[in-house]
This record gives sequence, C-alpha cells and structure tokens, in this order.
Amino acid sequence: MMKTLLAAITAFVFLGISNGATLAAAGDVEKGEVIYAERCLQCHGEEGDGLGPAAERLNPPPRDFTLGLYKIKSSAFDADLPNDEDLFRMVRDGMPGTAMPGWSDLLSEQEMWDVIAYIKSFAELEGEPEAQLDYGTQIESSPESIARGKELFNADDRCSECHGIAGRGDAVKKLKNDNGERTWPRNLTNAWTFRASNDPRDIFARISVGIPTTQMPSFADPKSKKKLTVEERWHVSNYVASLAKGEKVVRPENTVIQAARTASELPSSPDDPAWQTAPPSTFFLVPQIIAKERFFKPANDTVTVRALYSAEKIAIHLEWDDRTKSIPGDETAKAIADEELNEDAIAVQFPVTIPAGMEKPYFLMGDAAKPVNLWRWSSGTTDKPESIAILDAKGIADQQPRDANDAGLTAKGSYKAGTWRVMMTRSLRTETADKDLQFEEGRFIPIAFFAWDGSNSEAGTQHSMTTWYWLLLKPATGSRPLFFAIIVTLVVGGVLAWWGRSAAARNRETAS
Ligand code: HEC
Ligand code: HEC
Repeated sequence: MMKTLLAAITAFVFLGISNGATLAAAGDVEKGEVIYAERCLQCHGEEGDGLGPAAERLNPPPRDFTLGLYKIKSSAFDADLPNDEDLFRMVRDGMPGTAMPGWSDLLSEQEMWDVIAYIKSFAELEGEPEAQLDYGTQIESSPESIARGKELFNADDRCSECHGIAGRGDAVKKLKNDNGERTWPRNLTNAWTFRASNDPRDIFARISVGIPTTQMPSFADPKSKKKLTVEERWHVSNYVASLAKGEKVVRPENTVIQAARTASELPSSPDDPAWQTAPPSTFFLVPQIIAKERFFKPANDTVTVRALYSAEKIAIHLEWDDRTKSIPGDETAKAIADEELNEDAIAVQFPVTIPAGMEKPYFLMGDAAKPVNLWRWSSGTTDKPESIAILDAKGIADQQPRDANDAGLTAKGSYKAGTWRVMMTRSLRTETADKDLQFEEGRFIPIAFFAWDGSNSEAGTQHSMTTWYWLLLKPATGSRPLFFAIIVTLVVGGVLAWWGRSAAARNRETAS
C-alpha cells in the first residue's frame, strides 16, 4: 500500500516538474498519424506543410509543421523547440481569431498527445528546449504599473511602431510573415483575437519570446536595441492587458439597437460627445461567402452602432476598427495596401417597408418581393471627398445606385487612431415613400450592416456583413406607446435572447 502510494507520489512529482517532453514521449506516432489524417490534414496538408485543401481560404494560413516553428512558446526566446505543453494547449484550446479549432471535445488527452507526437515528426523535433523562459516575479497590475507600461510601450516607438499608439494595430507598416504572406499586428484592444490569451502572464511570454514566424520580435533578446528587463516586461504586460475593450463586447442577446429621442438637436459630427449618451451595440461581421465573388479573408471584425432621433430626423452612428485609412491616391495608404487600394466603406441596410410581422427580407440585399435600401458611405479618394449613396436592391444581382439627395440622406466620417466613426442622418419621413423606408416610433425595424476595408482590396461583393438585427425608435417618455414598446421589447428580446443563446450553444456543438 505504502509502496503504491509512494510510486504514485513520485510519478505525480515527476510529471509535475518535467516540462512535458516525457509526457509527449507517451504519444504514439502511428496512432497520431491516423488522427491527423482524419482531423488535421484538410488544413495542415498531407505532408504537414500547411497546404491542405482548405488552406487557400484561410488567413492566417495553417501552420507548416515541416519548419518546426511555433507561435506560442514558453521556452526561452533562443530555444529552438517549444515545450510540449505549448503545443498541447494550442491543440486543446485552438487559436482564437483563426480557423484553428480547439479539439478537447473531440479528442481524448491521449489522442492529443498522439497527434502531437506525429506533427513533431514532420520536422524531426526531438529532445527538450535548451532553456526556459524566466518569468521572474510577477508584478501585479496597478495604475502605476499600467502607466509605466504605457511609457515603455511608446518609448522609442517600441511597440507603437507596429501596434499604433492606442494599440489598435493601426501603425503604417506593411508586415509579412516568414513565408512572405501578409500579416497584421494584433489589435490589442480586441482581446478575443489573441492566439494565446490576454492574461498578463501570456502577454509576458509573447513579449519575451516574440511570435516566431512573424515580425513580432523578442524583447528579452540582449541583442535587441529595445530590450526590456523582466520587471519592465511585466509593466508592459499589465498595460496591454488593460487595453481590452470593456463596453464594446458582442453579446448574443444584444439584438435591438435602442434609439432614444432627443429634445435637442441631433449631434452634428461623428466625434460629438453627445454620442456617448446613446447605448452602444456591437455586432460581429462575417465574410460574404454566399454569392459570387465569395470572400474569405475580411479585415474588419466588428461594428458598434448607436442611434438617436429627434422630432424630424434620425442619426445612426457607426464605429469600427480599421487598421488602415484607405484613401486611393494617397501614397502612405498605397504603400501598406494589399494588391489593390479601394475606398473604405460601410453600409446600413433597411427593408423598404417595415414588415408587419417579424418576417424580414433576405439578409443579403433582399429579394424581388421584399426590396431593401442600402445607405452606403465611402471614404473618398485624394481627388474626391467622402460620399454617400443609396442602393436600391432586390437581391445581390439587382442593385441600382441612387443619389442620396433624393431622400435627403447625408453622412460624415472621421478617422482617428485605427477607428472609423461615421454618422448618417436622414429625415424620418421622405417624399419617396415608395422607394425609401419611413421610420416609425415603437416598431421593430430590421437593420443590417456591410463593411469594406479598402486596403484589404475589398470592393463589390467582397466584403463583411452582419445578419439582421432590430432598430427601435423608443417613444419619448410619458407617451402611451412607450409602455407597449417596452412590453414588446421584453417579449421579443426574451425570445431573441433565448434564440441567440441556443444558437450559440448549437454553434459550439457543431464547431466541435
Ligand atoms: C480548419 C483548419 C484547421 C484544422 C482542421 C486544424 N488546424 Fe491547426 N491551425 C490552423 C491554422 C489556420 C493555424 C495557424 C494559426 C495562426 O498562425 O495564428 C493552425 C495552427 C496550428 C498549430 C500551431 C500552434 C502554434 O503555436 O503555432 C498547431 C500545433 C496545430 N495547428 C495543430 C493542429 C492539429 C493537431 C490539428 C488536428 C487535430 C489541427 N491543427 C487542425 C488551422 C487548422
Ligand atoms: C515589428 C512589428 C512589431 C513590434 C515592434 C511589436 N509587435 Fe506585437 N505583434 C506584431 C505582429 C505582426 C503580431 C501578430 C502575429 C501573428 O500574426 O500572430 C503581434 C502580436 C502581438 C500580441 C498578440 C499575442 C497573441 O497571443 O496573439 C501581443 C500581446 C503583442 N504583439 C504585444 C506587443 C508589445 C507589448 C510590443 C512591444 C513591447 C510589441 N508587440 C511589438 C508585430 C509587432
């Protein structure tokens, strides 16, 4: 009894202190090969070179295992190998912001070790890393630490050179990975896109080791002119962790954009502080993959929407992160653009008439029976100012542009530190009721969004979009319809929240 207990303790201690290489040695390469063929090959390729059949549609591309280089490493910056736990973690949890799924629901722990043993064999990786990353003593986050981290982030343009002064990844540099493919510095305010996580300990590891295969360098390397001490790296990590957006989170139950009625004038510009009084709703943008030309690699990921209305007019405020201000004709914009530089653009889609029930037009530009309007703003070129147009659409193949003046629609845009803000204003009612939506208080109005990143060569059908959400013009307080609107909002909101949650649950099931 005592002996078994001792053996168990020894095994436990041994596993605990080993860096995982011993554990992975338990991975069975042959079994791993079978799992790989079934689960990994379509992306990572038969030869492990990252050239599987699905690869051409993926950005970033799947890892080429033949090189033996990995992005997420907790071994020392100059060690050739990652720790096996690093690989295990990426296989188990997946890499957010990329196509790499987490496998914990489909593969057992042993199966994950087996497949890891197999992918290591592509580069004949053997043995253990020469040295481990030194975490020193973690410095807890505090306002002082964050302030110090911010200084170090911007000093000598250390991190801002690529990530921009506000950390939104908007610095004007064209970066490529080791394979010559376009890469983007991370937008550090979008914590959900971190491949590892935005926990300070993870950030510390990325700053110390760098992100192999990309231009993100090591700041622990003594040869680096911008080297940071262990202590300094903790301050920078605390600062980066503090950048995560709080208010702009995508919530599945957030499906109704609430437009409040103002007694005063509507804001006059997209930067007007009055906009902060309107509650924000943030939605994911997904690539347009339904109609030709399909599109798989959009650059914009979310859009945040606010709305206000007065007795006569409605104003819609759109805010989205875009690393590049794409103004065709501009030399800086051209230098960082992909193949072709187009204008940045955003569009709001409405049905031409408010549906009587909850039935909406087809979300991708409507259909013959249920036409839609798109209010489409474009950023302009060096020769042409920003502009707005209306598109009358009955499906993606039937779109007619029309002068926005026709309906008295105007728009204004503003670009600052990696963020576009655009405000669109129109009268609630127009004389063109046969062609344009007439807004009404207290009714659910379907609304959807489309976005184009010009520096990512997005134009025409190559864009990102959302599905339909709802816009509600909340009647001014005191009037009877308010009571009704609240009841309807509660009932419909409840149904939608339930629907959103069960859809999310279904997605989780199908993704796994
Ligand atoms: C749908 C496509 C897809 C499938 C299926 C897939 N991967 Fe990946 N994988 C990716 C992409 C894309 C990346 C690169 C992400 C990046 O560079 O940020 C990646 C990266 C990785 C990495 C690199 C981690 C690092 O730190 O660099 C490992 C390891 C990995 N995959 C293992 C696997 C294994 C094992 C399987 C099968 C069980 C698998 N992948 C299946 C798309 C896929
Ligand atoms: C030369 C350009 C460059 C510099 C300088 C740079 N980065 Fe990065 N950084 C990148 C790129 C490119 C990526 C995205 C890598 C990828 O494609 O996965 C990145 C990614 C990151 C990530 C994401 C980690 C994850 O888990 O996804 C963090 C955090 C980060 N950088 C922090 C910093 C900090 C802090 C500094 C300064 C100490 C810094 N970077 C300096 C280019 C740079």
